[in-house]
Amino acid sequence: MRTPWIVGVSGASGTPYARSVIGALLDAGEAVDLVVSRAARLTLLDETGASVRDGHWKDDVSAWLGRDLGDLAYWPAGDLAAGPSSGSYPARGMVVVPASTAACAGIAIGLSKDLLQRAAEVSLKERRRTVVVPRETPVTRSHLEHLLALHDAGAVVLPASPGFYSVGAQASAGQLIDFVAGKVLDAMGVPHTLFTRWAGELNAQRSPLGGP
Ligand SMILES: Cc1cc2nc3c(=O)[nH]c(=O)nc-3n(C[C@H](O)[C@H](O)[C@H](O)COP(=O)(O)O)c2cc1C
Repeated sequence: MRTPWIVGVSGASGTPYARSVIGALLDAGEAVDLVVSRAARLTLLDETGASVRDGHWKDDVSAWLGRDLGDLAYWPAGDLAAGPSSGSYPARGMVVVPASTAACAGIAIGLSKDLLQRAAEVSLKERRRTVVVPRETPVTRSHLEHLLALHDAGAVVLPASPGFYSVGAQASAGQLIDFVAGKVLDAMGVPHTLFTRWAGELNAQRSPLGGP
C-alpha cells in the first residue's frame, strides 16, 4: 500500500526549504503527497519565479523542483474531499514547510480552512509524525502559544534556524537550506545526506577562520 508523507507548503517565506525536503524524500524512495496553499503560490512566485497551477501541476512542480517527480502526487489546497483530509487515507505523517504563522494558528485551533490545515489536523489526531517549520521572526505571544499548542498536540516544532557548525561561517545559502531540511528529515526518521553530522571535533572539516 502506498503510504506517502504529506508535504504542506504554506505562505511563509522559505520555499527553498520545501524544495530541499521534497527532493530528499524522493531521493530516499519515499512517496510524497504535496499540498500548496493559495498564499504559498505567491511566495513561490516571489522567491523562485515558479507558478504552481492546479491544472498544470506536473509541469509546474517539476520545473520548481528541477527534477523528475518520482512518486509525487498533488492535491489542490481547496479540495477538502482530497485523500489527506481523512484519517483513513494512508499516510506516514506530515510536514508543513515552511509554516506560516497563520497555518500554525489554524492547525493549533483546528480551523481546517483548507486542505493543508485539515491534513495537518488529521495527522495530529491520528498520532502520526507531524513536523511544522515556522519561519517568522520576531514572534508574538500568540505565535508562541500556537507553537506550544502544536507541541502539546504531538507535533515536532522545528524552526527554520540553520546552524553554521558543520558548514562554517562561509556557508552558502544552499548549505544552510539543506541544514534545515536535514533536521526536518531527521525528525521524520528518513535517512539523508543533506549535511555532515557533528563528530565531536571542532573545525574538523574547514580551513582556519572558516575560509574555503
Ligand atoms: C512574499 C510574502 C512573504 C511572506 N512571508 C511570511 C513569513 O515569513 N511568515 C509568515 O508567517 N507569513 C508570511 N507571509 C504572510 C502569509 O502568506 C499570510 O499570513 C497567509 O495568510 C498565509 O496563508 P497560508 O497559511 O494559508 O499559507 C508572507 C506573505 C508574502 C506575500
